[in-house]
Amino acid sequence: MALSFLLSCSAMLPLLRVSAYNTSAGCAIIRPPKDGGIRYRGLTQEQIRSVQVLPVDYEIEYICRGNRVIVGPKVRKCLPNGTWTDLSQRSRCLLMCPRVWTSLENGRVSSWPLGPPVEGTVLHYSCLPSFILMGRNSTQCNKMGKWDTPKPVCHYDRHYKGKKKLYIGALFPMSGGWPGGQACLPAAQMALDLVNSRTDILPDYELELIHYDSMCDPGEATKLLYDLLYTEPIKIVLMPGCSSVSTLVAEAARMWNLIV
Ligand SMILES: *[C@@H]1O[C@H](CO)[C@@H](O)[C@H](O)[C@H]1NC(C)=O
Ligand SMILES: *[C@@H]1O[C@H](CO)[C@@H](O)[C@H](O)[C@H]1NC(C)=O
Ligand SMILES: *[C@@H]1O[C@H](CO)[C@@H](O)[C@H](O)[C@H]1NC(C)=O
Repeated sequence: MALSFLLSCSAMLPLLRVSAYNTSAGCAIIRPPKDGGIRYRGLTQEQIRSVQVLPVDYEIEYICRGNRVIVGPKVRKCLPNGTWTDLSQRSRCLLMCPRVWTSLENGRVSSWPLGPPVEGTVLHYSCLPSFILMGRNSTQCNKMGKWDTPKPVCHYDRHYKGKKKLYIGALFPMSGGWPGGQACLPAAQMALDLVNSRTDILPDYELELIHYDSMCDPGEATKLLYDLLYTEPIKIVLMPGCSSVSTLVAEAARMWNLIV
């Protein structure tokens, strides 16, 4: 049954008088997951020991022991028909493997299934162009909460013949009140093509533009700016167009050490 350490948190909440409820309208208690317990809000330890039915709308919360995390519904509520919510989905307390394995410098990691890296999660690794994977290309989180292989690394390939890519992020207003991006984008693309075709400027690199339509809307641009900053590949320069969006990007730039 629930452990006493899980119950101390309920002490400050007002006590429910379970006996005041019509016990034929309610939900029968359910078992906690393995390696976990249930937090019963507002009940004393004595009440928890004797209670068999909990009232409609009552919510229980699962808690896991140690450094396990809950996978599946974390909270269940008693429905008027006497069942708990989401009973078709199991709640389990699983060990989590170190998160360090879930990102890879100069590479990509895909996780299956998605969500926290718990027991059973499989990660697949790959490296960006011009990098070679050293180590295994996949790893699995085992029942001890440990990855079954060391984390691989992406080593720069000295013999890589192709050019190294440099990415430039851009927020051009292609639609909206001032669709000036329709003219800016081809001009920017022509400038990059010119640099890429010359052998005396950045000979070992290729510039690539990743652009989004800001619609000249600072709200829309904020979302896109986050996408540019927090999704691979890393961009070396940001290029905004349209005054209201440029102001926003310029004000945010110093927080991320960005070149605008
Ligand atoms: C308790 O609830 C049931 C079903 O909702 C109802 O039939 C019964 O009359 C109620 N009993 C009392 C004492 O309110
Ligand atoms: C109880 O009600 C919920 C939603 O109101 C429904 O999804 C569920 O199937 C019902 N369960 C039973 C046993 O009637
Ligand atoms: C992962 O490595 C194995 C051999 O270690 C290989 O057979 C497999 O094709 C590789 N998978 C990918 C996606 O590169």
